[in-house]
Amino acid sequence: MKFIKPVSNHWQPNDFDLTQSALASPILHITKTVCLLESRCDDYAEYLRAIFRDREARWNLAIDQWNAEECQHGVMLRQLSESVDSSFDFPSSMAHYEGIVSYHEPTGESVRGSVAAEMVSRCVVEALASTLYRVLADAITDPTAASVYSALAQDEARHFGMFLKMLETESENENVGMFGRVKFALQRMFELEDSQIIVASSVVAGRSKQAIRLRREANQYLGSLYSLYRWKHLRYAAKMLLHAVGIRPSRLPLNAATFVLWSGVRIRGWWANVASRILPP
Ligand SMILES: [Fe+2]
Ligand SMILES: [Fe+2]
Repeated sequence: MKFIKPVSNHWQPNDFDLTQSALASPILHITKTVCLLESRCDDYAEYLRAIFRDREARWNLAIDQWNAEECQHGVMLRQLSESVDSSFDFPSSMAHYEGIVSYHEPTGESVRGSVAAEMVSRCVVEALASTLYRVLADAITDPTAASVYSALAQDEARHFGMFLKMLETESENENVGMFGRVKFALQRMFELEDSQIIVASSVVAGRSKQAIRLRREANQYLGSLYSLYRWKHLRYAAKMLLHAVGIRPSRLPLNAATFVLWSGVRIRGWWANVASRILPP
């Protein structure tokens, strides 16, 4: 059984005519930030290939396909950012970003402690990435840029399915129950404000030449991002996250999980905006 099905006519970056694209400044900023994150695709794949090096071929074949698609996301977001803002200097931004923030070493050991924990973590990342692209697609009026984000959202949902299958396969050997999965998922969600994302935000904003104030940068980034999330987006995220922790997303758990996510996003977004105004620059 394959972990991920190849798509016969997968989209290509040149399928989209971006010449007329326009994005509001906060959306452009988020797009550039995510472009740097996606463009680190080879680091992520190298780390996972090292973990899977003793596994049967299908594990690394899946990572190869996933890797190619994530790199394509980086290319796509770069093209979109450059078409809207010709001053966006991707090569120097990327070099600067990689020089400041390192990714996990490909030692063959998961920094999460086990392969199952790593897969739960990956499921969370893919679920939240898919949700983010849906949020961006819904936040803009430009139909071409919206179709770019929608294509990315679909890919991330497929990646979620791939890591979920890997998690289920791994669970046959490694017993990780619901509470363990919830713990790993929460740990990964709390890392959303770590330096990987926040430094990328400061680099594309041109605020990384001096010492980066991570908390201030996080407040600026999350304040504008979280204001775009609606109930339907968090319901979509909650459905995938429940699958990842082994809970069937029937009505009651889905409503409860959506409410928790919605409250978390509203409170964090509110605080980010308040803190950006009252804390010293
Ligand atoms: Fe991606
Ligand atoms: Fe992905």
